[in-house]
Amino acid sequence: MHDFHYQDGSLYCEGVNLESLAKEHATPLYVYSSATIHSHYDRLDSSLEELDHQIEYAVKANSNLSILKLLAEKGSGFDIVSAGELYRVMAAGGDPAKCTFAGVGKTREEIKYALKHQIYAFNVESEAELRFIDEIASKMDLIAPVAIRVNPNVDAKTHKYISTGKSENKFGIEFEAVEALYESASHFTNIHLKGIQMHIGSQLTSVKPFIEAVEKVAPLAAKLKERHGIEFFSIGGGIGIVYDTSLDSGREDWWTHKKDEDRPLTVNQYAKEVVPRLKKLGLKILLEPGRFIVGNAGVLLSTCLYEKRGNAKTFKIVDAGMNDLIRPALYEGYHEIVPLKQNKSHSHAIVDVVGPICETGDFFCQDREVANFKPGDHIALMSCGAYGFTMASTYNSRPLAAEILVDQDQASVIRRRQTYEEMIDSEREAL
Ligand code: LLP
Repeated sequence: MHDFHYQDGSLYCEGVNLESLAKEHATPLYVYSSATIHSHYDRLDSSLEELDHQIEYAVKANSNLSILKLLAEKGSGFDIVSAGELYRVMAAGGDPAKCTFAGVGKTREEIKYALKHQIYAFNVESEAELRFIDEIASKMDLIAPVAIRVNPNVDAKTHKYISTGKSENKFGIEFEAVEALYESASHFTNIHLKGIQMHIGSQLTSVKPFIEAVEKVAPLAAKLKERHGIEFFSIGGGIGIVYDTSLDSGREDWWTHKKDEDRPLTVNQYAKEVVPRLKKLGLKILLEPGRFIVGNAGVLLSTCLYEKRGNAKTFKIVDAGMNDLIRPALYEGYHEIVPLKQNKSHSHAIVDVVGPICETGDFFCQDREVANFKPGDHIALMSCGAYGFTMASTYNSRPLAAEILVDQDQASVIRRRQTYEEMIDSEREAL
């Protein structure tokens, strides 16, 4: 599940003591476990071994070059959503020929850039975009490899901001219109219809919506293979992870203890249902996992600055803010909060853990029972490896945090903390 554990009352990432890292590199600090990333990738990859498949890691989840490099070396392809992500993938040694380019708003420059670097396929999200790609490819005298993203109108039963496969979402083309679009696209001179794609949402904790979507789209994929010779079917990402592992509770049985509805989707369960439904298609199957690969592999370390007791609540004010980790503010995302050093009495308190940003929404938890850590103590916000640093900003002019990658007992700085100078550098010349 992950490689963070307590040893003699101190939290470790693999063989590295996190308290020492916090002291050496200061906080806020992102720390990732390479062992967790390796094992998640390998588990997913081997669960799909009966299929001709390719994992396309969703770069948006965590785009640090060292993490992309680690995944590229394992043979991963990459699901990108901008030319900037393609630039990163190539800088990290990733292969553009293994990249799929998704997103509803690709610009001319981005399409040209991706064509020039001969990506595996564009996942096209509208008819207008298809025509645009055809026109650009024709000017460049190239053939653009394309898959159309189908919106299967399936409820992913996840947070409304990360649900993508319903008709009211902006993504993809309505199921009913897809066949006709392939038909007309087959007459475009500079388009090669290479595949079909879907992605119904993120952080899915039940296999049912995946089954529903695959059962709906697989017959269409078979038809398109026959009529247009498509080669692949990308079933998107979205496999959910456990955010509440009760790490600090001392319970060894947190997993079995959970109620059914709180249990996440397991990879085995996912593969057991999905693989047989895809195998008979004889298509190459692409998967675009982001969170599953890196979500549990990262933590955000922070230091408690102050405690404030009010009439209504007690606030523990920490030095990380919503600019470092926006998930609680944006999606009501849950992140476990644990001390880097367990106090001997294991005392707990019901508090709000909040950041220093001038926004009421700048909190990491509200009215939650957490370890009763004190000013000066370090804490970890767990499961921040996906959509943590990639969604960070310098809001309130707070420089971007540093990032560390742990490999057994080695810790490497994979992004140094931004300096004030770097933060304002690109504005200086206008003065
Ligand atoms: N493929 C497509 C087309 C996507 O839009 C996404 C995520 C993925 C794959 C990867 O999904 P994953 O396996 O990571 O669930 N910031 C939000 C999540 C946004 C997801 C956007 N699309 C969060 O922090 O929960």
